[in-house]
Amino acid sequence: MKKVGNHTSISRILFFCLALSLTFSVSHAQQAAPAAAPEAAAVDAATPAAGAGDPVKGKELFNTNCAACHKLDAKSTGPALRGVADKHDRAWLYKWVHNSSEMIKSGDAAAVKLFKENDQKVMTAFPQLAEADIDNILAYTSEVAPAAPAPAPGAAVAEGSGSGASNNLILGALVLVLAVLIVMLVLVNKTLKRVAANNGVVLAQDEPSVSVWKAYAKNSFLVLVTVILLMLSSAYFLYGYLMQVGVDQDYQPVQPIHFSHKIHAGDNGIDCKYCHSSARVSKTSGIPSLNVCMNCHKNISEFAGDKDSLYVDHSKEFYTAEIQKLYDAVGWDKSAQKYTGVQKPVKWVRIHNLPDFVYFNHSQHVSVAGVECQTCHGPVETFEVMKQNAPLTMGWCINCHRETDVKVEGNDYYAKIHDELAKKYGVQKLTAANMGGTECGKCHY
Ligand code: HEC
Ligand code: HEC
Ligand code: HEC
Ligand code: HEC
Ligand code: HEC
Ligand code: HEC
Repeated sequence: MKKVGNHTSISRILFFCLALSLTFSVSHAQQAAPAAAPEAAAVDAATPAAGAGDPVKGKELFNTNCAACHKLDAKSTGPALRGVADKHDRAWLYKWVHNSSEMIKSGDAAAVKLFKENDQKVMTAFPQLAEADIDNILAYTSEVAPAAPAPAPGAAVAEGSGSGASNNLILGALVLVLAVLIVMLVLVNKTLKRVAANNGVVLAQDEPSVSVWKAYAKNSFLVLVTVILLMLSSAYFLYGYLMQVGVDQDYQPVQPIHFSHKIHAGDNGIDCKYCHSSARVSKTSGIPSLNVCMNCHKNISEFAGDKDSLYVDHSKEFYTAEIQKLYDAVGWDKSAQKYTGVQKPVKWVRIHNLPDFVYFNHSQHVSVAGVECQTCHGPVETFEVMKQNAPLTMGWCINCHRETDVKVEGNDYYAKIHDELAKKYGVQKLTAANMGGTECGKCHY
């Protein structure tokens, strides 16, 4: 009986070890999970300093009337306006906003100085604003700036160090459990052998078996079948591999400026054709010149997106730095608000590229056929980074030509052809293929 007792006591210890390490790993995994509790932004308690204005109404007035030229904390066309109420007295400010050029003409010293400091730019006159309105605006510009940008709530921190650390913990715990299991197995094996020896059991010896391989090699039919199978499967994979040569679907290069279609075409709803304006009228769509970007970015110098959903991919600082890259490229000095003349053209990496022997025309598809950009390029307005959505193979073009009906409504030319061809093919609908969309010469020079 002694032997059996021996056996169970060891296994009890081992079981205890296993249970211990399991609880250890589980409790750690739980601890690690809820890492980042985003700190509530508790700042921004407005301080109604000068004149009893309403900062909320003021913000509205500011955005409709002043934001085109002024920002709170940065120079734009006009100077930054935060705290301007402490710089001049109220009467002066009323007069200035109502008609600044008159003040400059009348030789008011402060006004003339300001005018000179700002390259003699003229501020619009706002005679329509009541003094109460101006008080509201000034209440808004007197609000204390929100404290230093709270380190991008949760996102960056948690995803970087937090989850990495917890993953490591879990991994470590798992390795520990495995190690304990191995030790356990060895110990159990030893004990069992000892028990067997004590009981006088003789362990079976390995019998010298007939080699399976030798038997197999003798059977020529089996060998033949195997060879055929091997050849078929390698041909299959070789074919698959060769068909992928020159197909760059999902090609997604890193661009010199991180330009997000999600932010531009998605969140801000900018029409594709605003930037790719030639898609409608010419063979190519083209990439917009940087002047097009500056139509908006003269004023948008920092990323101010206030929805959390905007920061899934990158932080505010990252995006602002990318806009700075645009400024460096066009040579725009944002503090002086003028071009320096030093340019560093951006070299966008081309993504879609058909071979030279293929003719593809955007206007034919976008304007004439009325195909949406997204049909070929995918849901671009959700792409943080642009990629090639379609395979751009010949099969892809042809399939679509076989399946897509030509738009004949409202087009006399097509209506006539349609009637004739529909009679010829005995069909009601007319596909691009019926019109000759599968003729080699249409796509190949
Ligand atoms: C068309 C552009 C433009 C608009 C719109 C505009 N401003 Fe100005 N503002 C300027 C410029 C430029 C200056 C600098 C003085 C100059 O060059 O005339 C200035 C200066 C000022 C100053 C003096 C700043 C200082 O540092 O002393 C105040 C105050 C001011 N603006 C208030 C307003 C308010 C309030 C509104 C909206 C109701 C407004 N501005 C709309 C262009 C504009
Ligand atoms: C604000 C300007 C802008 C808007 C709006 C815009 N794009 Fe772009 N697009 C660009 C720039 C800049 C590039 C080059 C950088 C890149 O590839 O990300 C580009 C690249 C592309 C490319 C890849 C070009 C290549 O190299 O093969 C496609 C396709 C494209 N855009 C489609 C669209 C579609 C579809 C829309 C509308 C949903 C759209 N774009 C809206 C500016 C814009
Ligand atoms: C029609 C206006 C408009 C045009 C044109 C435009 N942008 Fe923007 N851009 C925006 C807006 C709006 C934002 C978001 C700003 C925010 O949320 O604070 C933005 C954000 C950005 C950002 C930061 C986010 C990101 O995408 O990485 C970059 C960089 C940028 N633009 C570059 C460009 C470039 C390069 C071009 C020209 C190809 C361009 N923009 C053309 C309006 C425009
Ligand atoms: C029928 C499919 C199809 C449609 C619809 C389509 N494209 Fe394209 N697009 C292509 C192909 C194919 C290429 C590659 C052309 C090449 O390499 O010559 C391309 C290339 C591009 C390029 C790279 C620059 C260039 O012109 O080669 C941009 C940008 C682009 N498309 C934007 C758009 C926009 C914006 C729309 C919608 C107005 C649109 N595309 C609609 C198939 C399409
Ligand atoms: C999303 C569907 C679609 C895809 C993908 C597509 N096409 Fe088309 N294509 C059309 C339609 C629809 C027409 C008929 C336009 C019309 O004349 O009304 C057309 C017409 C054409 C024509 C003119 C044919 C004629 O009869 O004059 C050419 C050339 C052409 N496509 C080339 C291409 C090439 C090259 C590709 C691949 C790189 C391609 N297309 C991919 C839908 C497509
Ligand atoms: C709707 C447009 C279209 C038509 C019609 C078309 N092709 Fe193509 N063809 C393409 C495109 C796009 C490619 C490029 C495919 C690639 O790069 O993977 C191509 C590639 C080829 C290639 C090169 C093979 C390769 O994979 O690089 C040959 C050869 C070819 N086509 C022959 C023909 C012949 C013959 C016909 C007439 C029966 C024809 N094509 C009709 C669009 C077309």
